[in-house]
Amino acid sequence: MKEAALGFFDSGVGGLTVVRAVQELLPGEDLIYLGDTARLPYGSKSPETIRQFADEDVGFLLSKGVKAIVVACNTATAHALPMLQSKYKVPIMGVIVPGVEAALADPEAERIGIIATRGTIGSHVYQHALATRRTGLMIYGAATPLLVPLIEENWISEEVTKEVLRKYLQPLIDKGIDTLMLGCTHYPLLVPVLQEVLSDDVRLVNSATTCAEHLKRMLEEMDLLISAKSEGSLEIYLTDLSEQFEELAKRFLSQPPGRIRRAVLGAV
Ligand code: DGL
Repeated sequence: MKEAALGFFDSGVGGLTVVRAVQELLPGEDLIYLGDTARLPYGSKSPETIRQFADEDVGFLLSKGVKAIVVACNTATAHALPMLQSKYKVPIMGVIVPGVEAALADPEAERIGIIATRGTIGSHVYQHALATRRTGLMIYGAATPLLVPLIEENWISEEVTKEVLRKYLQPLIDKGIDTLMLGCTHYPLLVPVLQEVLSDDVRLVNSATTCAEHLKRMLEEMDLLISAKSEGSLEIYLTDLSEQFEELAKRFLSQPPGRIRRAVLGAV
């Protein structure tokens, strides 16, 4: 089982920030990524729909024989992780708890802002996970649905993106946040511009890197780390193939994504 691949899924390209972090931390592992591009975005859909999609995504990855699965999408983690963990025997982890633990690793964190899709903010999963781990926190969530299209358009350093960020973040800045959690797998790409818009006192918590660290610990504990020393592979499957994806994937991974295959869910 140690030699089997790790599975990841997301609505589209965003989960590749998690894949990239895992490639850096666990370079020997083989990775299989599913992007449900035919049905994105997940961030604006109902919890029931997301649970159904996530269940089908996991079914596809299991058909590839993966040894563990990372829900590399905050919205799917928020709505579907408990259901997936109780339904399947394979270890399945999400991106929210690793981010929350990283935010709280700073004992001085008191006023925490979260930016994410409407679905993630509306689920209150971040807010609940933070509040149950530390009492007395002030927690402020903001749904920021315009950010994913701006990132995909590669308008990251454009003035319009800074303006949108200022508008979304001003209420959190007014509350005096000391920590900002990036609650969407696309947002690590915004770090340089977030650093421009926010004061240096605000700590950014990036769920992609913390998720990779969490995954490593989980694999160690379960004795599932690959023993091979050679460089691992990455296979990417999408439910809809578009030319645009390859370009996007290159930016998210910082390298060409290699061959991209079509996934047909429920028919594997
Ligand atoms: N991947 C989603 C997330 O992390 C954002 C994109 C979408 O809405 O599908 O919440």
